[in-house]
Amino acid sequence: MKTDRVKAVLEDLEKTLIEFMRKHNITHEEYRMATDVLLETVKAGEESLLYDIFFEAAITEIGNKAREGSPEAIEGPFYIPGAPRLEPPYVLRQRKNEAGDILFFNGRVVDRQGRALPNVEVDVWSADSDGLYSNIHPGTPDWNLRGRLYTDSNGWFEVRTIVPPPYEIPKNGPTGRVLTALGRHFFRPSHLHVKLRHTQFGEMTSQVYFRGGRYLESDVANAVRDELIVDLIRHDTTESLASRGLDKPYYEVRYDFVLSAANQLAAAME
Ligand code: BEZ
Ligand code: FE
Repeated sequence: MKTDRVKAVLEDLEKTLIEFMRKHNITHEEYRMATDVLLETVKAGEESLLYDIFFEAAITEIGNKAREGSPEAIEGPFYIPGAPRLEPPYVLRQRKNEAGDILFFNGRVVDRQGRALPNVEVDVWSADSDGLYSNIHPGTPDWNLRGRLYTDSNGWFEVRTIVPPPYEIPKNGPTGRVLTALGRHFFRPSHLHVKLRHTQFGEMTSQVYFRGGRYLESDVANAVRDELIVDLIRHDTTESLASRGLDKPYYEVRYDFVLSAANQLAAAME
């Protein structure tokens, strides 16, 4: 970020916050309560959780206005770079008997003219059936339900994972206390996280949500957009199970990504 912009933005933030405090006659006690909550989030290991719930969707929407390809979605606090690079057929790393229904997440990655984009890195991560993210929440194996795969020559990708449940924000930490004070619930609807990386178009971050899922209308992070909701299709016929070599029903979701010059611009600015 350029020094001029840092100065302009920070000075405006300072002015805006001072106006806000005057408007509400904020007391010294209230001011200290607020700074304590911010400190406690870090001590409780909640790092960006509080901010991502309240502000990341708005920042993402600002970016989406300048974007011509598929919309971006919030990253959330649980992305970890360097997930295992997988080999086809792609299966996210998971426990031997990972709980949860089997899910195939697939789609195509194309440019705005509909041309296939091969070799796009597709970095996927999701919560397990207890709503826990590996490398974040204790008790989960390293890199569980995280991995990087690549589109083929037709821009096609597919990875096997599980259908995650809605994610519940920790209730007992400082972020939970703020949500309780506001009378809000603690849930995000079920979702898969994905980052796409392409040599020319750069990186984009997205999420897919499942049509009909709980909390789509009341996501605690207010981050759901209609364009990101996909059909969760259940397959249970003998033929479909045989085609996948499975002996129990499975689910499939497809999301096609369009990468655009806006992604290119972002890559050039890095
Ligand atoms: C998530 O997408 O996992 C997430 C986003 C914001 C806050 C907490 C979790
Ligand atoms: Fe998430």
